[in-house]
Amino acid sequence: MIVPGSASQSLAAALADELDRALAPVEFERFPDGELLAAAPEVETDSAVIVASTITSDAHLELLQLQDALRESGVSEVTTVLPYMGYARQDSAFEPGQPVSVRAVARAVSTGTDRVLTVSPHEESALEHFSVPARAIDGAGVLADPLPDLSDPVFLSPDAGAIDLAETVRESYGEGEVDYFEKTRRSGSEVEITPSDVVVEDRDVVIVDDIIATGSTMSGAIATLEDPQRVFVTCVHPMLAANARTKLARAGVEQVYGTDTIERAESEVSVARPLAEALRSL
Ligand code: R5P
Repeated sequence: MIVPGSASQSLAAALADELDRALAPVEFERFPDGELLAAAPEVETDSAVIVASTITSDAHLELLQLQDALRESGVSEVTTVLPYMGYARQDSAFEPGQPVSVRAVARAVSTGTDRVLTVSPHEESALEHFSVPARAIDGAGVLADPLPDLSDPVFLSPDAGAIDLAETVRESYGEGEVDYFEKTRRSGSEVEITPSDVVVEDRDVVIVDDIIATGSTMSGAIATLEDPQRVFVTCVHPMLAANARTKLARAGVEQVYGTDTIERAESEVSVARPLAEALRSL
């Protein structure tokens, strides 16, 4: 049985379809004091898969509640799918006294599950913080699917760390050059991007990243491009927080694409199939 978190209802339904499993009825309520209640009534199964992107603190709480409710209903095997794992970018105490948030949430999630499956975590090292078996799949494999026909394409990643994603998209698309920018982060919403060497004049450019959060990285990268034909941006996790869409539109982006690890209007492609394959092989 597939049990959706409130932020992953479409993906959970697509996954239930792929796996030919039932979709659990879930209920989400909020009490007058602001506290949440996520419940999974009528679940009668030995094995359940919770699909819950932890895109907010509330979504984290809901996940812990669903895990608890399933255990309480007698489900003996609980798999937790985190299509997007929140708090994973705080993977170090960057200043004295700061938490390693990724570790804190991984520990909490581990208490109510037998295993974890996630999609393109910020760093693979996030998996080490779970005390149950944890695995990640690469969400970039589906990112080429919605791209239009491109003219002499260049696939760029905004930093060296995302070059594998750009290569994966280029590989799936079937042609094009791959390069990357150098990025220095100045603050949570400010980045400095050094241009890539590749000549983009009159060519279609696709910039590929794991996540678009504030849009600063993407818009900073686009500003360095000299006379491209069209610019597309694509990412696994289309967080698109605050004024990210405005930044991208002002930067001249033709189209933004993302997957349904975070359900947005830009979620043009689903990770349901690769997730289903991974779940079948567990
Ligand atoms: C950073 O290492 C990530 O790969 C992304 O480039 C970054 O988190 C995107 O954030 P923003 O959209 O806020 O620049």
